[in-house]
Amino acid sequence: MSPTTTRIHLLPPTPPTDRTIEICLYHKLTALRHAALRSSPAAFSPLYRQEAFKCTTPDGRAEAWTFAAVQGPCAKNELEKDGKGEGEGEGDGQGEARHGEVDKVEKVQVLEADLDALVSGEWVGIVTLIAPPPAGDERRWEINWLYVLPHARRKGMGRRLLEAAVGYGVRESRLRGRERAGFRLQVATGNVGVVGWYERLGWRVRGECVGGLEMERWVGGEVEASDRV
Ligand SMILES: CC(C)(COP(=O)(O)OP(=O)(O)OC[C@H]1O[C@@H](n2cnc3c(N)ncnc32)[C@H](O)[C@@H]1OP(=O)(O)O)[C@@H](O)C(=O)NCCC(=O)NCCS
Repeated sequence: MSPTTTRIHLLPPTPPTDRTIEICLYHKLTALRHAALRSSPAAFSPLYRQEAFKCTTPDGRAEAWTFAAVQGPCAKNELEKDGKGEGEGEGDGQGEARHGEVDKVEKVQVLEADLDALVSGEWVGIVTLIAPPPAGDERRWEINWLYVLPHARRKGMGRRLLEAAVGYGVRESRLRGRERAGFRLQVATGNVGVVGWYERLGWRVRGECVGGLEMERWVGGEVEASDRV
């Protein structure tokens, strides 16, 4: 079997003009989300509403970007660089972000608008990043729907997806004139075992919320008093 590698892709910001491609991507995304609900029902809120592509929420509130980890053939130059295929290379080992060092975001390469790879590859993981609401606190970003298929877990994919989303949010935040960005996510009550994993990646428990715990991570800029509110 030929070696494969897994790359992180940003889904196109608007639905592709080619309807066949659009349906294909949408099918893959929903298939993975269905798999997420089937295999880890306790991890996700039934109130989930996010759409596939960069979008506003149904109430016009926020923008969202979804990232997919997509398995496909390994290019020759990648093999030469890494000396191996799946699971190795830029995403291996421990992330740079460690507990207490919340400023460091692991650099994860994100490919944009590679429709061929998105259509032909196997999607093994997803995560969605949501921008702060226009009229709210401009620094508060939200992460949801982090999911990796069971067979692809424990190879650093979850960490890479999370870091890709946070890194993207940090860059978007800077484009909006904000050096400091705060990220939040919710861990459902039935899934609190994952809290330690987030903590190792620089997140901390902020407190309880409806249905579980809220976690946060701040990146960049000066600490402000309102960060703890
Ligand atoms: C959480 C998740 C995304 C991690 O994906 P991954 O690709 O396995 O992540 P990584 O390879 O970067 O890290 C693996 C580590 O995560 C930890 N981990 C993941 N889920 C965990 C859980 N529920 N409880 C305890 N530890 C967990 C393990 O400690 C593992 O480390 P180990 O290999 O030393 O045992 C994946 O397990 C998943 O999709 N879970 C179901 C959905 C979910 O819980 N999403 C998060 C919603 S808040």
